[in-house]
Amino acid sequence: MPTENTVIVRTARKVPAKAPLLARLVASDKLASAPLDKRQLARLGFDGSVGQTVTVPGPDRSVEMLIGVGKASELDLPGLRRAAAAAAKAAGTNTGMIIDHASATASFDDPAQVTQALAEGAILGGYRFDRYRTNGSAHLGKVTLVGTGDRSEAAGLTRADAVAGAVCFARDLVNEPGGTLVPAEMADRVAEAAKEVGLDVTIWGKKEITAERLGGVLAVNRGSGNEPRFIKLAYRPEGAIGHVALVGKGITFDSGGLSLKTAEGMMTMKCDMGGAAAVVATMIALPALGLPIAVTSYTPITDNMTGDDAQRPGDIFTARNGTTVEVLNTDAEGRLVLADALSLASESQPDAIIDVATLTGACMVALGDKVAGVMSNDTGLSDELCDAGTAAGEAFWPLPLVEDYRMLLDSPIADLKNIGGRYGGAITAGLFLREFVGADIPWAHLDIAGPAFIEEPNADGPKGGTGFGVRTLLAFLQARSAPPAEPEQGAADPAEG
Ligand code: BES
Ligand code: MN
Ligand code: ZN
Repeated sequence: MPTENTVIVRTARKVPAKAPLLARLVASDKLASAPLDKRQLARLGFDGSVGQTVTVPGPDRSVEMLIGVGKASELDLPGLRRAAAAAAKAAGTNTGMIIDHASATASFDDPAQVTQALAEGAILGGYRFDRYRTNGSAHLGKVTLVGTGDRSEAAGLTRADAVAGAVCFARDLVNEPGGTLVPAEMADRVAEAAKEVGLDVTIWGKKEITAERLGGVLAVNRGSGNEPRFIKLAYRPEGAIGHVALVGKGITFDSGGLSLKTAEGMMTMKCDMGGAAAVVATMIALPALGLPIAVTSYTPITDNMTGDDAQRPGDIFTARNGTTVEVLNTDAEGRLVLADALSLASESQPDAIIDVATLTGACMVALGDKVAGVMSNDTGLSDELCDAGTAAGEAFWPLPLVEDYRMLLDSPIADLKNIGGRYGGAITAGLFLREFVGADIPWAHLDIAGPAFIEEPNADGPKGGTGFGVRTLLAFLQARSAPPAEPEQGAADPAEG
């Protein structure tokens, strides 16, 4: 699902004669192959570590860029992804770039994986959100990867386009201002993209949301002049081997409601639909990846505003599953909309439910903006997600759902209140969500409040929306689609058949 600005990546067998900017991947222990010697490179601040770039003279008065990949023996796929992202970010006003990785990746045995990692990096590193710039400068549009030239590289490109294109789609949604990306607009954009790739699309407006008794969504939406939406997407491949439900928090702008945020606290709150964006973007990548697993997404969409019928602290609503909730802080709104979505997801009895949400400042305080929190009722599922994150280049860390804190959510007059005590805010939020997950369904909650939106550029993109979560969810679904083969006695190997 390429967005307007997506960098286009191709492969070639050798460096074209009339090359635009040529970049070469070099290992820190193989700098001898570079046009300048080690001491000269050191003067330029380049030692070949992963993601470093330097521009050096090339033949015939040309210039070349060198991109460090670290020690040759330690180079892995995440390292390649990072190196290509660094190259794309360093391209400046060059509109085209060749990345010659032939010698750096000669020892890898799967050219498709190499190409996928490099192409993902180039697309992510080259991402920009400039639809509101009237004074745009030239920028990177095309990247050519020169490697082994193996035919399987094409498959790597296809996968990279699907994965990185989805991340860019999520970034675009997050970067769009809250006054533009109102719930109806978000639903329209998602529906269009989802239909284009052949997903089943269901969009509920306020009428259906009321008929379906989504009390949490309606409670949060009371203060808004914008109608809510509920987006449901389904991917149903033939011969699916299981069913996973994804749930995402879609608050298109979080003012805090009557428990109003500060001006500073509100500045980045267009990012509060980052969980929903990650979930729908993941869905949109699935048809191109062709994973044999059924996936359904549930994303409630509303803003959290202060209109004259806004919910008041102390108000009580009834959630989809019948639980009554006393809302003591209207800024703890994400858990209210997620409550209904988790109930809906549970009703279909999936094999697992994963929710993704910019849920708490507390999680950001605990883990910073590079690591997301994982809370789960199933350690196996939590491990799978942390491993998928590692493979995908996104960091997750488990937080405990401490039983002793559950009583902090007891209300004197309703079944639950929506805030816990002064401390452990990420955990009490997780415990609140758990109340709405069906008995015995493995569930994990990913709190991406920190990494969803960054105030400084990071290794794989500019500041702003990151699309965090997409790559991990896809890696998780991929791993679930291809369970480690159990050695069966006497079974014929289909490859040899
Ligand atoms: N959307 C915020 C959480 C957030 C904060 C996301 C910073 C990204 C960056 C959420 O709705 C919120 O306001 N949470 C409150 C909960 C509190 C009132 C219990 C918070 O974290 O302060
Ligand atoms: Mn809030
Ligand atoms: Zn919020």
